[in-house]
Amino acid sequence: MTIVAVTGATGNVGRPLALELRRRGIAVRALGRSAERLRPLADAGADPLVGDLADPRFLAQAFRGADAIFAMIPPEYGHPDPTSRARGIVAAIAAGAQVARVRHAVSLSSVGADLPAGNGPIAWLHELERRLDQVPGLHTTHLRPGYFFENHLGSIGVIKAFGKLAGGFQPGVALPMTATADIAAAAAVRLGDLGWSGHHVQELQGPRDYTFPQVAGILGAAIGRPTLGYEALGLDAVAAALQGAGFSPGMAGLFAEMIDGFNTGRLAMRTPRSPATSNPTSLEQFAATVFAPAFGA
Ligand SMILES: NC(=O)c1ccc[n+]([C@@H]2O[C@H](COP(=O)([O-])OP(=O)(O)OC[C@H]3O[C@@H](n4cnc5c(N)ncnc54)[C@H](OP(=O)(O)O)[C@@H]3O)[C@@H](O)[C@H]2O)c1
Repeated sequence: MTIVAVTGATGNVGRPLALELRRRGIAVRALGRSAERLRPLADAGADPLVGDLADPRFLAQAFRGADAIFAMIPPEYGHPDPTSRARGIVAAIAAGAQVARVRHAVSLSSVGADLPAGNGPIAWLHELERRLDQVPGLHTTHLRPGYFFENHLGSIGVIKAFGKLAGGFQPGVALPMTATADIAAAAAVRLGDLGWSGHHVQELQGPRDYTFPQVAGILGAAIGRPTLGYEALGLDAVAAALQGAGFSPGMAGLFAEMIDGFNTGRLAMRTPRSPATSNPTSLEQFAATVFAPAFGA
């Protein structure tokens, strides 16, 4: 039986991925920090493994005997030195894969990860791709999704408090966005059949790009506020707001750099939208099935 080790198994992407792999009859090692949060996956037949992704010995053990791994860097918004922390996790994942002699890895990377710098936290994903590609004998597929629809759930408080959506993206900039369930589905396809080899990049975007005024219109329509608008903030204001929400100064600065990258077009998909890179779920569907229920809860 194929064995896949899934890092971040309780996360937006890892959880539906782990469940889909189980549904396909694949043995899953579900990695996370809490046995309690991993319990629903254990109930679905996954093997829960509790440990820190920065610990290479934990990872070497967790990956031993696995046919493939799903590799991700968890966001730690409040970390005082997020770049050192992320680099430690990248090194531990690559070392773990090498020591355990894993043959296949699918990584959760991002649009913009083709750039080594100037892309905020996405630079860590560039590094993750590079380090995994250097592991001897490891075949890799790096998924580079656009902006997660699930990020919009973080705007619920702002909408309730101020009656509008606000952020650092310029109103005229259309971003590639996608549902995390669709990313998990793409990862499950790749991990469900390991008959591929070499190093691959797969961009993933929704059926179309969206500007933030369009996002406001779509989310607003789903929650009965059809006139919901969007206010673009300066990047200094965004960084200050993020720190107010618990981001460390370093992390807030990196997010501002990333948003600037999208605003100026530095960060963008590199291949035209095609059936292979286009996920099915639209923002309208997400707004109706996920956002509106969460807003009402
Ligand atoms: N948001 C976007 O628009 C976007 C776009 C492209 C790429 N990405 C990338 O996607 C990744 C985030 O994916 P996601 O949204 O699925 O993550 P998520 O929902 O935030 O989940 C994070 C996962 O990592 C686990 N975790 C956190 N810290 C850990 C640690 N120190 N050791 C072990 N496990 C730990 C968490 O487990 P517990 O909390 O249960 O312990 C959880 O399972 C990031 O690398 C981000 O850069 C994001």
